[in-house]
Amino acid sequence: MTEVGIDAIEIRTGNLRLDLPNTFAPQKGEDPEKYTKGLGLTGSSFPDSYEDIVTMAANAAHRLMERKGLEPEDIGRIDVATESAFDNSKPVSTYVAGCLEQVFEGDFHHANKGERKFACIAGTQSLDDAYNWIRAGRNRGRAAIVIATDTALYARDDPGEATQGAGAVAMLIDEEPDLVSLSLEQGYGSADETDFLKPNQQFPSVDGKRSVQVYLARMREALEDYKSVAGDIHPDDFAYGPFHTPFPGMVRKAAVLAYRNLIRDTDIEDVIGEQIGEQPRRDEFADDDAFVDALTDYTDALSETERYQHWYSATIEPTLGIAREVGNWYTASVHLARISALRHAAENDIDLAGDRLLVGSYGSGAQAEIHTETVQDNWREEIEALNVDEQLDRRYDLTFAEYEDVHDAHNHDMDTETEELTTPESEFVFDGWGRMGERKYRYVE
Ligand code: CAA
Repeated sequence: MTEVGIDAIEIRTGNLRLDLPNTFAPQKGEDPEKYTKGLGLTGSSFPDSYEDIVTMAANAAHRLMERKGLEPEDIGRIDVATESAFDNSKPVSTYVAGCLEQVFEGDFHHANKGERKFACIAGTQSLDDAYNWIRAGRNRGRAAIVIATDTALYARDDPGEATQGAGAVAMLIDEEPDLVSLSLEQGYGSADETDFLKPNQQFPSVDGKRSVQVYLARMREALEDYKSVAGDIHPDDFAYGPFHTPFPGMVRKAAVLAYRNLIRDTDIEDVIGEQIGEQPRRDEFADDDAFVDALTDYTDALSETERYQHWYSATIEPTLGIAREVGNWYTASVHLARISALRHAAENDIDLAGDRLLVGSYGSGAQAEIHTETVQDNWREEIEALNVDEQLDRRYDLTFAEYEDVHDAHNHDMDTETEELTTPESEFVFDGWGRMGERKYRYVE
C-alpha cells in the first residue's frame, strides 16, 4: 500500500510577542514561576492589528507552495481547521485561496475547499479527511493543503489569558510523503462535554480545571481504543510523543498517565516495580476511592523514577520547545509539537528515519484521537527548510499597555483601532471591509 502522509510543513506565527513571566505576570500580581514552572510558558505569540487567521494561514501556505515549487493546479483540496472563524457561512479556505491567487498564476477553481470545526482537534480531523480523500483515489494525482490556524485569545482577566497564542501550521498531504506517513489505525475518546465552548461568541467560556480533567479522560480512552485496533504498544516503540499542548504543564500531567498506561504488563513495569511496587489493579481494592488513592500514590512515585524521567526528557520534553515560546495555537498546537520534536532530532543529529511518533490530538467539547506516524527518509531536509527561529526571533516584544490596546483592537465587540507595531513585509495583510461585510486582504511586497 502506498504511504500517505505529510509531505511538507510550514508555520506562521503572529508577529507580536507577550513576555509572560516578565511583562504579564507582574501586572497580574503573580509569581513569574507560575508561568515558567507551572504552566511551562515563557511567551505568547500575538497577532498585530493587520493579522488574523486568514493572513497567518495564507502566509504559511504561500511559503509552503513556493518552497515545494507548487502551482494551484497541483492542489485538489484546501481545508482549513479553526475555532476562530468569523463567518458562519463562507469558509476561511476561500479567503486563503483568494489570497494565494494574488501571488500565483492560475487558480484553485477546481479544488475542493472546506472548514473543519471541533475545537483543537479539527486540524487532525482535516489531516484525516485529506488522507482518506487520497486513499480513496479521488485526488486525481493532486495533493491537499491542510491549514490549522487560530487566534487563541481569551477575554481579559479570564484565567485562560495566560495561555493565549496565535499562529498557523500549513501541511501538504500527499502520497509517498517526505516527512511522515500516517497510520491506518486510529483510536478515539469522545463524549458530550461542557468544558470549553464559544456559543456564538468570540472569546471562550471555559471551565479551566474541568477542561484539564476532560483532556486526560478523553486521551486515556483514545489510547485504549488505539490499542484495541493496533495491539499492545510499548513506550520504547516511539521516538517522540507530540500531544495537543494548550500549555506545556498540561502535557506534563498527561505524559505520566500515558506512560503508566503504556508500561502496564511490560518489562518496564517489572523493573520499576522493584522500586515502587506494581501498579494497583481495580480488583485488588474494595471500592473505587481506595483504588484511585492507590493509583494516585503510584503515579506520583512513578513520576519520580529515573526511568520515567529519562523517557519524559527524551520523548516528551522535545515536543514542547516551540509551545513554550508561543502559547496555545489551538488547532495547530499538536502539529507544532510534531515540528518541535523533529527539529530537536535534526539539531541533535538524531537519525529518525523509520522511527515512529505517538500523536495525541485533543479538542474540547470533547474528543481525543491517537494515531501513529512513521518518519520518512527525507524528514531532515524538510525540517531544516523551516524558518521557525527566524520567525520567533523577529516578533515585536509588547509592553503591557500595547498588549491591552492590541487585544482591544482584536475584540469584535470593541470599536477600537491601534497603530501597527510592526511593518509588514512580503506577507498578506488584512485590508479592511468589503460592501457585504467580507474581509479584504492584500499582499504587501
Ligand atoms: N511556581 C510554580 N508553579 C506554580 C506557581 C509558582 N509560583 N504558581 C502556580 N503554579 C502552578 C500551579 O500549581 C498549577 O500547576 P498544577 O496544575 O500542576 O498544580 C499551574 O501553575 C497553573 O496554576 P493555576 O492552576 O493556579 O492557574 P490558573 O487557575 O490561573 O489556571 C488553567 C490554569 C485552568 C489551565 C487556565 O490557564 C485556563 O483556564 N486555561 C484555558 C483552558 C485550558 O487550556 N485547558 C487545558 C485543557 S483543554 C484543551 O486542551 C483545549 C484547549 O486548547 C483550550
